[in-house]
Amino acid sequence: MSQQVNQETSAAGGVNRRSVLAGLAGGVASAGLLAPSAAAGTTGAETAGRPERDQRVEALLGRMTLAEKIGQLQLVGDETTARAALAGGRLGGVFSVVGAAKLNALQRIAVERTRLKIPLVFGLDVIHGYTTNFPIPLAQGASFDPAVAGTDAAVSAKEARSSGIHWTYAPMMDVTHEPRWGRIAEGYGEDPYLATRFAVAKVRGYQGNDYSAPDRVAACAKHFVAYGGAEGGRDYNTVDVSLHRLHNLYLPPFKASVEAGVATVMASFTTISGVPAHGNGYVLHDVLKGAYGFRGFVVSDYTGIEELILHGLAGDGADAAAAALPAGVDMEMVSTNYARFAERLLAERRITRDQLDDAVRRILLVKVRLGLFERPYVDEATEVKAPSPAALAASRQAAARCMVLLKNDGPVLPLAKGIGSVAVVGPLGIATYDLNGTWAGLGTGAGTTPPVTVVDGIRAAAPGAAVTYTPGCTVEGTDTTGFAAAQQAARAADVTVVVVGETAAMSGEAAARSTIDLPGVQQQLVAAVAQTGKPFVVVLVNGRPLTISSVHEHAPAILEAWAPGVQGGHAIADVLFGAVNPGGKLPVSFPRAVGQIPIYYNHENTGRPADPANKYTSKYLDLASGPLYEFGHGLSYTTFRVDGLRLSSTRLPARGGRIDVTATVTNTGARAGDEVVQLYLRDPVASIVQPVRRLRGFQRVTLAAGASTTVSFTLTPDDVGFYDNAARFRVEPGKIEVYVGTSSAATLSASFTVG
Ligand code: BGC
Repeated sequence: MSQQVNQETSAAGGVNRRSVLAGLAGGVASAGLLAPSAAAGTTGAETAGRPERDQRVEALLGRMTLAEKIGQLQLVGDETTARAALAGGRLGGVFSVVGAAKLNALQRIAVERTRLKIPLVFGLDVIHGYTTNFPIPLAQGASFDPAVAGTDAAVSAKEARSSGIHWTYAPMMDVTHEPRWGRIAEGYGEDPYLATRFAVAKVRGYQGNDYSAPDRVAACAKHFVAYGGAEGGRDYNTVDVSLHRLHNLYLPPFKASVEAGVATVMASFTTISGVPAHGNGYVLHDVLKGAYGFRGFVVSDYTGIEELILHGLAGDGADAAAAALPAGVDMEMVSTNYARFAERLLAERRITRDQLDDAVRRILLVKVRLGLFERPYVDEATEVKAPSPAALAASRQAAARCMVLLKNDGPVLPLAKGIGSVAVVGPLGIATYDLNGTWAGLGTGAGTTPPVTVVDGIRAAAPGAAVTYTPGCTVEGTDTTGFAAAQQAARAADVTVVVVGETAAMSGEAAARSTIDLPGVQQQLVAAVAQTGKPFVVVLVNGRPLTISSVHEHAPAILEAWAPGVQGGHAIADVLFGAVNPGGKLPVSFPRAVGQIPIYYNHENTGRPADPANKYTSKYLDLASGPLYEFGHGLSYTTFRVDGLRLSSTRLPARGGRIDVTATVTNTGARAGDEVVQLYLRDPVASIVQPVRRLRGFQRVTLAAGASTTVSFTLTPDDVGFYDNAARFRVEPGKIEVYVGTSSAATLSASFTVG
């Protein structure tokens, strides 16, 4: 399998510039970068009306002064700065200002008092809800149902746009192998295929077919790119990445989002192999705008342009602007290096007119596509200030769908609706805003309705039960004096629900943790409850995988609820009492110990794969190999069997071939439930060694007790190909192994040959 048989050439944009990473790529310029599928801009939504829009933008551009052009590149994050910039007629957009009246007032200045009346674009981090918080994105990944992300996005888009927001800084699609990294909460976990499916669903949910619609917003694919590779999981830290990993692991969700028509892209704070993303012409100019044909605009992440100075790429602000604009950052957020230095840089020929015009053109195009020239203002009567009953219902349903049953011995779960008494124990049993998790938008803080607590959810689900609450300890404190009361409550109840985990602030941006155990003495609290010998279940509320080997040892049942959002307590109770049979699966491996990190299912085999019987293999002396819970793991209150694996052919032609893979899934238990049938591939011999498995298909099905269904997946050469170390997509001849089952440990297998 060493000979390349298929090399598709769709490097749209015809970039001739030498890549800044050419050295790394062994001299490969962007023209050599090959894409396996259609370049962006070919969807119906993207092409419809394109000539008129382009003409409009060109006409406007032709009338703009240099100052007006530079003004469009500036994005500011508060009203005062916005007003000051508008007074000079130099502002493109505003973010993080909310309230229809405030936004209209700012817009009025732009539209009524500037020469060309170019409207402002209003942005906001609407990450998993505007007023209605859905579960965090990592939780959504656990649903293995991209429609969950689509619903969140559609509800959020409607609330935000009705309130004057045009543009959200989502979806975040950073694949990561780093659970210490707090921002793992904002993405879809460790797998590029899963992340891609969710990212695309979210882009479509936000933008619809036409994001000028009054219930849609422009999306922003972030953070471009490889932010999830931050060393040690420390936020903003160095990323050093091979070209094959960049293209196979980190880039796929972005490429697919561009193909889905994403309006904008945000650069990442980190370096990428020595060149900070904000000055990285290879990733922004060559790959994104060149090979992928992205026509929208790139926004800096906050002061990312200014940070080129501290990174050591630029000596001063002028240098920073001179690096960022040609690299492909079109709009500058918060810092003002374009505004201050662009004119001078033009005069000094350190940036060109074409580069400036290209950035302005991209920003204007998004404004045109948003319909801002026709409808710059929002109807203040439509502003959404609180979740609607329908939005709350959607959030509750989504949250229950995202939960993962990690363990259920006994089985302890589901609890009987008619149960006599329940003791709720643990510091998060009455948590409110912590259930929203990071980036809770307008759903957290003064004037908002707090999320439903677990205690209230249980009380509502089992109205006849005596429900007590005892915290036992705090989330982070070391005081164990509350354990005795917790044990007493557990002894007195039919069942105990121990709610432990992380606060909202413990994940998200700048929230790296050096250990990922349950914080404080919560692990000991679980052990103390276990000592009572009474049945209990642990409910985890958290924004990242945790090392919970001790909990796994002590607790008969563990439900991973993540940060479930505004209806969290109800959704948890829905699952605990069996109104919803859990069907989520882990989008990330759960390590046994922090020292195992990075641990991910799609790793390479090595020349010495772990073997407990052989010292000289890839493992630790003091820890069993493999994760505590593998990627794709998740139980149900019923059981399933997957069998009958069939391939429509044993040969996949490398050009235009297709193979249908089918399998039968049967609910072998006594109640209806969901199973996620997962398909993994392995290419055992390739010119770039391939992961031991990689996900290439999944389907979540609901089956009545005893029912079966056939699940089918279609594989094409795109599914078996990969990018090599020159960033070329290759489909190599040879054997491909197929695994189908209910987690990444699936054993049912077959194989076919490519070529
Ligand atoms: C974050 C981005 C976010 C931006 C604007 C930055 O600190 O990294 O993800 O969109 O702030 O709030």
